[in-house]
Amino acid sequence: MTRFAILTAGGDTPALNATIYGAVERANALKIEMVGLIRGFAGILDPRVPHVRLNPLFSTIPELTPNMGGTLLGASRTYIDRGQADIMSEIKQRLQTLKVDGMICIGGDGTINGMQPLCEFFPCVLAPKTIDNDLGLNYLDEVNELMMDESENRGHRRHGTSLVRPTIGLDEIVNYVTPGFATAVFVVVQGIERIRTTAESHRRIAIIEVMGRDSGFIPLGSAYGQPDIILIPEAPLDMDRLEHRIAELYELQKHVVIVVGEGVVDQNGRQLGAATKSYDPAGNIIFNGAAEELKQLLCKRFGDDYFGTRRKHESADSAIFTRKVGHTQRGGFPIKFDRFHAVQLGGKAVDLLVEGQNNTIATLQWSQDKGFFLDSLGANKLRDQWGKIHPRHVHPSFYDHQRFQPSLLGKNYLRSVLTGAIGTEDVEQIRADMFSPGKLSTRYQSVNIDIQRRIETLI
Ligand code: F6P
Repeated sequence: MTRFAILTAGGDTPALNATIYGAVERANALKIEMVGLIRGFAGILDPRVPHVRLNPLFSTIPELTPNMGGTLLGASRTYIDRGQADIMSEIKQRLQTLKVDGMICIGGDGTINGMQPLCEFFPCVLAPKTIDNDLGLNYLDEVNELMMDESENRGHRRHGTSLVRPTIGLDEIVNYVTPGFATAVFVVVQGIERIRTTAESHRRIAIIEVMGRDSGFIPLGSAYGQPDIILIPEAPLDMDRLEHRIAELYELQKHVVIVVGEGVVDQNGRQLGAATKSYDPAGNIIFNGAAEELKQLLCKRFGDDYFGTRRKHESADSAIFTRKVGHTQRGGFPIKFDRFHAVQLGGKAVDLLVEGQNNTIATLQWSQDKGFFLDSLGANKLRDQWGKIHPRHVHPSFYDHQRFQPSLLGKNYLRSVLTGAIGTEDVEQIRADMFSPGKLSTRYQSVNIDIQRRIETLI
């Protein structure tokens, strides 16, 4: 009997359950048992290896539904350190006791790194997820160019580097889009539209900070909310030009809406908000405060007088306000695009393991002729010569630096992903569910409670 394990690692996305569901449904069809490991790699670092059987008798457990956000398995940013030989042999032993023949890791770049040491003795494949849409390459050879750049800028290549190709073909993109991104954009766009009307009424400048770490795909996608200015981490801030454009817009429409990616940098490559730099348990910088620092910079540049004359005695501090869309971008139900493709990628990951693949990623590709289709890629294709996986950045040809907006190619990319991304069933879910009277008399039913009852351990 074949038995596979599955886990979700890194930050969650709304499409994780959909990926698990796709994998389990495919496993049912192939008569493969699926075991879910609890809390990502933390689950196999725990000698008890808490796990859940996801398809007893090859029938998916009812708690697993593709339209529920988050992950019923729980996620963590705990990763495995390949240097610890004793831990590796313990993990090997645990996987043998669990009687699994392969593992699907659902995650992003951090997860590939976490999975790498396991691949040396155990077949593992990755089903991609990340709201940041930064897992993949703009074109296959990009990682080798990053490698050459490494000496200059430790792989954090920014726009304007001589090696950057001036343009790319959309069908060259490796792992075109990751499940979670479309839903994050959906949430961001709603947020912008709501902030817009209040900024407009009160003649204010709104700075809306969105997630994405070093990659600007979420801010780029925010263009659907029609913000006046979009700032992406790949394009270092030019404060003079920004001030000029804000003033122009403020004179014209008496308010301005700015979207800023949380990883935005100044001309020296310093992250805005870096004064309060902190790290998560996996050693990633916690991006915090880009919008607030941008506000302070603008307050200084414009000063109280500017707003005093235009807004009758209001200070710059009250005329400019910041809001973070925050974790709402990562939560709630996945919209149709994410749900559908996440299910497909989960199924593809099972097929890859069945084919005997190891250290491989299930990918979602796009071409003008075929539209979206599934493929796969050796994980090492994403690594530079030191073995490092870099986040995919927004390609310079996707962004119009002068207008602070997506370029024509950037818009074409967004259209290919987001046109039709919302299903009628998504709208119906909001209509039927939001003010359902029963919600007032029942408490929230956490999936964690139901899953807890199903958890088994090795010891
Ligand atoms: O990588 C996904 C992401 O949501 C980033 O966009 C964000 O910076 C980070 O995770 C936040 O992580 P956490 O919720 O662990 O603070």
